Amino acid sequence: MKRVVCPGSFDPITFGHLDIIERASSLFDEVVIAVLVNHTKQTLFTVSERIEMIQEVTSKYSNVKVDSWSGLLVDYCKANEIGAIIKGLRAVTDFDYELQMSQINFQLQNIETLFMSTAPSHSFISSSLVKEVASYDGDVSSYLPAPTLIRLKARLAETKKK
Ligand code: PNS
Repeated sequence: MKRVVCPGSFDPITFGHLDIIERASSLFDEVVIAVLVNHTKQTLFTVSERIEMIQEVTSKYSNVKVDSWSGLLVDYCKANEIGAIIKGLRAVTDFDYELQMSQINFQLQNIETLFMSTAPSHSFISSSLVKEVASYDGDVSSYLPAPTLIRLKARLAETKKK
């Protein structure tokens, strides 16, 4: 079985992520979306909330599953018989760091990294930008699936009350 992992923070999932996931699901037998557990990084949503939000918008793809991991991504890949990592590349600015990561991941455990060009319509979307715009009540409805947008608005409203 050809299995690929799509790793990230997904805080929250955007149409940019979904585009890569959808295209990967047509190329591989199974796509595992792996949500990074990183206790040093402050996130708006907990890992279980992020998993739920991803499941909500990927349930129509029968070969997509969602999981979380902490530690080295390559160790997760080995433990789960995953031979490759798939990443979306939005712009050349993404490339330097992604290249370094792909090289170290190959050196560590022979795990391949495949880069997929993000659709031009999504190339400027990032979870961080979306959160920033939404925090100032900007319209982010074209960057996020509807259920994710509802949760984002609710979370930001809760945060403002505190
Ligand atoms: O969505 P993000 O935050 O840009 O995703 C980055 C991520 C989680 C894919 C990357 O930081 C990662 O793979 N971290 C796991 C730790 C690891 O394996 N490090 C060694 C390679 S740099």
